[in-house]
Amino acid sequence: MGEDIPCTAAYILAKNDSSQGRPELINSMPSPKILAFGGSLRRDSYNQKLAAAAAQGAREAGAEVTLIALRDFPLPLFDEDREAAEGLPAAARELKKLFRSHDGLLIASPEYNSSITAALKNAIDWVSRPETDDEPPLSAFKGKSAILCAASPGLLGGLRGLVHVRSILGNLGVLVLPDQIAVGKAHEAFAPDGSLVDERQAARVASLGAGLTQHLTKLLA
Ligand SMILES: Cc1cc2nc3c(=O)[nH]c(=O)nc-3n(C[C@H](O)[C@H](O)[C@H](O)COP(=O)(O)O)c2cc1C
Repeated sequence: MGEDIPCTAAYILAKNDSSQGRPELINSMPSPKILAFGGSLRRDSYNQKLAAAAAQGAREAGAEVTLIALRDFPLPLFDEDREAAEGLPAAARELKKLFRSHDGLLIASPEYNSSITAALKNAIDWVSRPETDDEPPLSAFKGKSAILCAASPGLLGGLRGLVHVRSILGNLGVLVLPDQIAVGKAHEAFAPDGSLVDERQAARVASLGAGLTQHLTKLLA
């Protein structure tokens, strides 16, 4: 039998090395790029911690992950008059650029009154807007894939809000993967360093992120 060949997504068998008579491995498959964030502006947000935990799983599975916090992109409330007068604010342009330059979205969305937070919806609204007349519609969303999760002190963990986030993103042309996780009792779920206390829950959250990486890796192959 021949020698073992590394079989990670980053490697492909490309050609034979004639001098050795062995296959040469070429690291030529791009790592998927994932943009991860929580849908909360709160400094100590459970959802931001959850996004970080899932992002780590995505990273360990081979993705290049950019973890951002929405609070670092201060956006005015979307107003078409303002948009007509001033165009997109700098923070919206920056956020949209990030969406466009990533293959996948990993969103941990809090639930406010059984739905999406105003902060997340406002960010989506700004990012959905074209900057020039010839820009294709929804350029920051179409063709992306996403994975969703939520955390809440309530027992349902924000599950009801994810129904709306899934619907909004789907209507914008994002393929939202079926797996999702809602972390209930979020005030007890995280250690001071932001990690999940329960090991099995931590493993499930990590594998959620890994699932998005694996899906994107197949798409990019
Ligand atoms: C306006 C408002 C509405 C809320 N509605 C819900 C709700 O419908 N369901 C729920 O589980 N938690 C609800 N909560 C509690 C949030 O889950 C909690 O504040 C959580 O910490 C928010 O997420 P974050 O920690 O990521 O900021 C609500 C909180 C606010 C401020």
